[in-house]
Amino acid sequence: MVIQWFPGHMAKAKREVTEQLKKVDVVFELVDARIPYSSRNPMIDEVIQRKPRVVILNKKDMANVQEMNKWYAFFKAKGAVPVAVDAKHGKGLKQVEAAAIEVTKEKFEREKAKGLKPRAIRAMIVGIPNVGKSTLINKLANRAIAQTGNKPGVTKQQQWIKVGKSLQLLDTPGILWPKFEDQQVGIKLSLTGAIKDSIVHLDEVAIYGLNFLIQYDYKTLCHHYKIDVNREAENLEWFDAIGRKRGLLQRGNEVDYEAVIELIVNDIRNAKIGTYCFDLYEEWQAEQDDGHA
Ligand code: G4P
Repeated sequence: MVIQWFPGHMAKAKREVTEQLKKVDVVFELVDARIPYSSRNPMIDEVIQRKPRVVILNKKDMANVQEMNKWYAFFKAKGAVPVAVDAKHGKGLKQVEAAAIEVTKEKFEREKAKGLKPRAIRAMIVGIPNVGKSTLINKLANRAIAQTGNKPGVTKQQQWIKVGKSLQLLDTPGILWPKFEDQQVGIKLSLTGAIKDSIVHLDEVAIYGLNFLIQYDYKTLCHHYKIDVNREAENLEWFDAIGRKRGLLQRGNEVDYEAVIELIVNDIRNAKIGTYCFDLYEEWQAEQDDGHA
């Protein structure tokens, strides 16, 4: 199921999340650790406002650790408490509760000073589709509660899930839209599987991914496909080499480019070639300084 984001839907999503936020002490903003900038909702700061926030960099198993750590430091400098997790394999989850305690400490101290009884910290997860919200909820709950994949909104009674000793998590995540307006962001969202439909052309996604690998991990790329192509070669030469090596051919012994494009995109999406961050912190920072981003 693909969520279609029209202005009306975006306004509704924002309204719904804003309403839910009133019930919680802390927001878990979930992003994809491979694209910590591109996988954020463009209005997230406006939506969350001053509510304590834990930025969860999910899918860390598929991200480049060094690059991810730069974003980690960035979020920390902005006053959020970041944690890096791998929800699918249940890694780093203990830090989520600890981070929630840390960001709400002052609030609970104030409540205590007013004579209020101690209570659980209430949290909800917010993020764009496919960043792993349902997977994380299920892992934190230790059972299948949220449906993974984008199912149409099933109206149901929302419930609190007990996590660890001090946390209560809303079982329904807040779903917000990604940054569509930027072409390069769209390509990265597709390359990581956040967008699976045809908003961006798959050939552009494959070419972007291929050029990223040529630039940053040339040797691994050649080794993965068992090919030997000059770094400076045209994209078509790479497609030909990969297609021939993998036997992706059609009538007349011609390379089946569509199959090659799909292969490259799927290999990158599933981290079959290597683990990468496609949002490069320094590049992003330079764009900010130039006033482009
Ligand atoms: P959402 O609720 O935010 O829309 O995302 P969801 O949990 O449905 O997760 C989207 C996809 O991301 C799922 O893959 C899920 O398994 C995968 N995923 C979530 N967290 C992680 C993680 O930390 N590491 C990795 N490697 N993958 C993660 P899928 O292909 O749609 O389903 P499945 O075949 O894996 O079940």
